[in-house]
Amino acid sequence: MNHNVMEHIETASVDELRSVQLQRLKATLKHAYENNPVYKKKFDQMGVHPEDCQSLEDLAKFPFTTKSDLRANYPFGMFSVPQEQIVRVHASSGTTGQPTVVGYTKQDIMTWSDVVARSLRAAGLNSKDTIQVSYGYGLFTGGLGAHYGVERLGATVIPMSGGQTERQAQLIHDFKPTALMVTPSYCLNIIEALERKFGTAKDCTVKTGIFGAEPWTNAMRQEIEARLGIDALDIYGLSEIMGPGVAMECLESKDGATIWEDHFYPEIINPETGEVLPDGELGELVFTTITKEGMPIIRYRTRDLTRLLPGSVRTMRRMEKIVGRSDDMMIIRGVNVFPSQIEEQILQISKLLPNYQIHIIKHGHLDTLRVHVESCSDASDLEVTQLANKLKQNIKTMVGISVQVDVLPQGMLPRSEGKAQRVVDLRNVAVPA
Ligand code: DLL
Repeated sequence: MNHNVMEHIETASVDELRSVQLQRLKATLKHAYENNPVYKKKFDQMGVHPEDCQSLEDLAKFPFTTKSDLRANYPFGMFSVPQEQIVRVHASSGTTGQPTVVGYTKQDIMTWSDVVARSLRAAGLNSKDTIQVSYGYGLFTGGLGAHYGVERLGATVIPMSGGQTERQAQLIHDFKPTALMVTPSYCLNIIEALERKFGTAKDCTVKTGIFGAEPWTNAMRQEIEARLGIDALDIYGLSEIMGPGVAMECLESKDGATIWEDHFYPEIINPETGEVLPDGELGELVFTTITKEGMPIIRYRTRDLTRLLPGSVRTMRRMEKIVGRSDDMMIIRGVNVFPSQIEEQILQISKLLPNYQIHIIKHGHLDTLRVHVESCSDASDLEVTQLANKLKQNIKTMVGISVQVDVLPQGMLPRSEGKAQRVVDLRNVAVPA
């Protein structure tokens, strides 16, 4: 990483950073309170006023914002500027209930492009790079968010979007991008297409992958790095806060994503009590935007579980790899299980492929998991049985639960073109005896 391209704030003293944050936080609380009736009502009900924030710790006095607040004020009720100042909207897919809508001013789009460009620089990229964006374009923030950041960096963008996997592979071959921005699960799909078409994926020109939008383990990082011959780095973000580029892993340390704290103020809370936890403890990540105009968000509960770590190659704090979303946690006979724990075990077994899906089924009165996974095409029938038993045993020992395992031939499981659906809940579906 070339240090002279870093912005001053990335390596400023902690004192300077905290002072910038406090000033911006105060302004944001005032802006939200004065310009959005939802925040005014929430603050008033709790008996707090923006002037009660005199230190960063005072933020804990203010109410949380949740996805239900966004849904209740669908579509534009959380905006804090007149509609004419909004230049773009994005929305979540809204698999359950109403989608959540977010809005950006011209300045917000600039800030967002800046943090994505900063993220790309942290990944060691610069204006000489060619970057294929394979996150979906559209209402999802991934494609356009990444795209604007690449242009802001001055690199060349290939706006491929998600899907058309064969074509993705062909363009990588023909346009020779040096970096790929894509979900890790869709990257696996592209790797398979490269291997099918060109025999190997390792020889392609891509040297860096910027992966996010879904949880992925360090075991998955190693698998992708080996098969594509790249450095695989983690980018984190969520639409309610901005989109991709809220935090980014730095190439030189690969030790968790650095949170761009001069724009997004993080807290970790106990998800049961809402109490703020000290840095280092595992809990739910909460963000307050401190520079956003169109839709400032105060104490947004992300449902993502992680811990805050001290800065390493930047002043700003890092977040540990996301363990999972509290919504994705499965409780199997009293044991809390995240898909990422199953993923780690699958990736330990070399003859198993990294595609998997977990079905939650009812077995009598109890919930059970059935793990569907694929084996390499050269595995014999005997090996397939051995692989299933091995995975079962490893999950029992390492995760602490008994599961059923179904090892399928390569290509049988659905392939992701964006965020993978790792868990399918079949508890309300009758399973034939
Ligand atoms: O997924 C924004 C994004 C696009 C981030 C492209 C990175 C790359 P949403 O659709 O609103 O926004 O989903 C946000 O995705 O709360 C996490 O649960 C999950 N997520 C995002 N990045 C990561 C990551 C985009 N690096 C939700 N690791 C978040 C784990 C992630 N989970």
